[in-house]
Amino acid sequence: MADKPKNTDVPEIETESPDLSQCRLEQVQEPAVIVIFGASGDLTRRKLFPSLFALYRNGLLPENVCIVGASRSEYSHEEFREIMRRSVEPESGGQPENWAGLARRLFYNPVSYDDPESFTGLNRFLEGLDSSYATRGNRIFYLAVPPTVYPVIAGQLGRAGLAEEDSRNGNWVRFVVEKPFGHDLESARELDKALHSSFAEHQIFRIDHYLAKETVQNILMLRFANSIFEPLWNRRYIDSVTISAAEQLGVEHRAGYYDRFGVLRDMFQNHMMQLLALCAMEPPSHFEADRVRDEKTKVYRCLRPFPTQELDSFLVLGQYASGRINGAAVKGYREEPQVRQGTLTPTFAAMKVFVDNWRWQGVPFYLTSGKRLAEKRTEIKVQFKQVPNSMFRAVLGEDIAANRLTLGIQPREEIHLRFQTKVPGPKVCLRTVKMHFDYNQGLTGPVLEAYEKVLLDCLLGDQTLFWRQDGVELCWGFLTPILIECDCPDQGKRLHPYEAGTWGPEEVKNLLPSLPGPHR
Ligand code: BG6
Repeated sequence: MADKPKNTDVPEIETESPDLSQCRLEQVQEPAVIVIFGASGDLTRRKLFPSLFALYRNGLLPENVCIVGASRSEYSHEEFREIMRRSVEPESGGQPENWAGLARRLFYNPVSYDDPESFTGLNRFLEGLDSSYATRGNRIFYLAVPPTVYPVIAGQLGRAGLAEEDSRNGNWVRFVVEKPFGHDLESARELDKALHSSFAEHQIFRIDHYLAKETVQNILMLRFANSIFEPLWNRRYIDSVTISAAEQLGVEHRAGYYDRFGVLRDMFQNHMMQLLALCAMEPPSHFEADRVRDEKTKVYRCLRPFPTQELDSFLVLGQYASGRINGAAVKGYREEPQVRQGTLTPTFAAMKVFVDNWRWQGVPFYLTSGKRLAEKRTEIKVQFKQVPNSMFRAVLGEDIAANRLTLGIQPREEIHLRFQTKVPGPKVCLRTVKMHFDYNQGLTGPVLEAYEKVLLDCLLGDQTLFWRQDGVELCWGFLTPILIECDCPDQGKRLHPYEAGTWGPEEVKNLLPSLPGPHR
């Protein structure tokens, strides 16, 4: 949990309502054992355990909770506790505050994923914890392992009786996985079949960490808790919507995975599609998991299929070449370790997408994402139409910038609205001004980091911020025609190199009305 820095350039906002003390979450009451498969791995040390510890320190874990690390490594409980302690150790060294309380509830149980005996052993161990710590048979199984292992673990848990919820005892069991959910439509279906052989849909929590970002959650609040935006939020007033997720980082140490997936599978099939759905969906009648996900699914059903004959008018793909980021020289994608020689994997994509329904007919949604771009910036720009008749034409000419609403997702968490005002003075002159809201203004307490939010929602059993399988399949189905085109051997002609540290390949200018960054 982080205290956000305050922007001192802008005056504090006045918070009229609600009483912010109402926004505190009461402690999660239901006891549980959280089992992390892949506990010796990087994700557990970097993200999961620090998030669990932050929740614990803020009183957001249930009183009766146990955390069990499980992986192939042979650790004792004490050795595992020490590894976890180091993952949350303050920079100055020493014991993290409140460490002892959670350490007492931290355990380790080695498992061999292929061995059924291992899972019966795990079952016995967890039952032992239920008796000693009153965790009542509630389980979260968090899979911090490579996706190829998901079906194996799901199958073993099912056969060992670990997936069963007992209606008499009222215990629950939840199974948490992260993307990628398959590599294409077919493999996504196979994976789902494997998970469903042990778990029901209400037990499966498919994470998209973008949904756990505060500013992403705020999209629905902005649209549906205000009455001034929604009447304008349609094809009559909106000219286009641009959703961009630009990254400065390259492929880092993940080339083994990334080179097989590329940007379309890594960012578009999941995060970009979620952002699109949040911008385009209809208001659900209640803010409740299935109603929200139903509305998203309807958006995915309305996506206009890509015309593969004229794909270049709808899609630009790129791959980063060497360049400079923040003044330092960086390698091109093909020089990165573990990348296949001559690889044609795209690291940048821009696409024009249409949502064929009453609200959005004819409004282009431009989606772009790429690695090694000039800045890290995720934002949504809602571009409104020009005024229908300019009464100022005679004095000002035609060039009056249309209104634009920008939702800064990260790193700038902000909303600004661009509009025209008169320049004070004797001459009739207009200027473009921005009304600005900094999301962190008026903030009174700590904010949940994405993994903290995800873990908390798993404990609460709230699936609102998680993918449902129908959405996963519709998005794979939508992307399949371009994935097929892009996977074919002569796709090289469609892949445009771009210099690292720029805003992507030149060709993108033919597709997008404006780019993130300099063309704001
Ligand atoms: C992950 C992708 O899902 O999202 C990464 O696998 C990408 O390749 C990351 O870098 C971006 O997330 P964020 O939160 O940094 O925008």
